[in-house]
Amino acid sequence: MPLFSRNHSREDQNTRTTSQAQSTSSPKTSTFEELKLPPPLPPAYLDVKRRVQQRLINEVNPNTELTNSEEARRIIEPIYTEVLAEANLVLNRSERQRLFEMILAEILGYGPIQPLLEDDSITEIMVNGPKQVYIERGGKLYRVPVTFEDDDHVLRIIERIIAPLGRRIDESSPMVDGRLPDGSRVNAIIPPLSLVGPCITIRKFAKIPFTINDLIRFGTLTPEVAQFLEAAVQARLNIIVSGGTGSGKTTLLNVLSAFIPHDERIITIEDSAELQLKQEHVVRLEARPPNIEGRGAVTIRDLVINALRMRPDRIIVGEVRGGEALDMLQAMNTGHDGSMTTAHSNSPRDTLARIETMVMMAGMELPLKAIRQQISSAIDLVVHAERMRDGSRRVVRISEVLGMEGDMILMQDIFEFVEEGMDGDKIIGRLQPTGLRPKVMEKIERAHIHLGPEVFGLDMVYQRR
Ligand SMILES: Nc1ncnc2c1ncn2[C@@H]1O[C@H](COP(=O)(O)OP(=O)(O)OP(=O)(O)O)[C@@H](O)[C@H]1O
Ligand SMILES: [Mg+2]
Repeated sequence: MPLFSRNHSREDQNTRTTSQAQSTSSPKTSTFEELKLPPPLPPAYLDVKRRVQQRLINEVNPNTELTNSEEARRIIEPIYTEVLAEANLVLNRSERQRLFEMILAEILGYGPIQPLLEDDSITEIMVNGPKQVYIERGGKLYRVPVTFEDDDHVLRIIERIIAPLGRRIDESSPMVDGRLPDGSRVNAIIPPLSLVGPCITIRKFAKIPFTINDLIRFGTLTPEVAQFLEAAVQARLNIIVSGGTGSGKTTLLNVLSAFIPHDERIITIEDSAELQLKQEHVVRLEARPPNIEGRGAVTIRDLVINALRMRPDRIIVGEVRGGEALDMLQAMNTGHDGSMTTAHSNSPRDTLARIETMVMMAGMELPLKAIRQQISSAIDLVVHAERMRDGSRRVVRISEVLGMEGDMILMQDIFEFVEEGMDGDKIIGRLQPTGLRPKVMEKIERAHIHLGPEVFGLDMVYQRR
């Protein structure tokens, strides 16, 4: 049943629309069929949903816990059957079942976006007010014909997400970060800050975290690069994973963390815990936003400073954005090598420039040259990721920091992505060695790890010093 609607009014949901009508919006709204999603039920059924909800409010003891889904099914099913009979609607078995699931999703789950959450091929869900929902799938954005009834409906779903976390959202604190029970990251922002109605952004992660072999299979990196990065992590190089929004930085950091030996004590520090380390000896710290009175905030920076007193072998910071960059560099320079973090940037060189700015945000009034010296002696490698125009996420450059020359930090690319052409709308290419022998090999060899020269595209056998 093609239930595509352009302006998402309830009447329109019933009209059949041709596919030409979709071609004007960008990105175009895809039909449920195209997206292989179950289509919504027509508006007549909304009424059934409302009546079931109303009867639940009227008839069920408000103290009844409806959080247990088995129990909830048992209570809701007979009410549903009665309402359906009263409404005189003819539904076949599967429609009946689907409507029931939708009602359950309203009462227990996340309403209209529940099916999107359950679809593992969707990586991001973006609700821009009640009538506009986008998803990301395969690295690309699609508008989906999913709608909420009104602003309040979106708000109720936001509240359902954040209530178990002890957070609240209202006009006086109109932004909130949270997480779903499955670990997905959620941000909500509402009017008056959002001018399009309440917004929800949900970043989903693979149910089973990606491994290095998955990334090789996806073409994110090559087996040689994987081997190099494994050596780099084991030899305790300090690594920054950089890239744009949603380029796969956190995922890459998580994959790299799997190379840390199991006998080390790891401390992770994040704004909203996303990393899923495999090791047993991991202490996870999460920053805290200020409370309603604006007090009690614990920043990433506070946690980095605290972590230094916790005898870490490695400190992993989910993302550096501000003054914590200075503490992180100091940690890297004072024996906590093997530390890793991510930073938002456009290229490896830009990453260093941004870290420079972040260090300035620490407010220590350090001279620029001193900041650069800290950066150049702390950071060994920058691994840069990109979400490419075909939707694929790849490592596009790996650069090492060589040191200072005058006032400038010297960098050298070790691997770079070389585009070779297109296969349909897919980019063909490979992350290739630049043919230079990395200076970081000295550190890697000192850790008694030996990599063949072929990893770097060097066919001559180089002499170990
Ligand atoms: N190499 C990859 N191949 C395919 N999908 C990936 C890859 N890396 C990450 N993803 C998926 O892309 C989405 C974004 O990944 P991730 O959260 O790691 O990006 P990010 O750069 O940390 O984003 P942000 O800037 O928001 O912190 C996730 O759903 C993730 O599962
Ligand atoms: Mg991230």
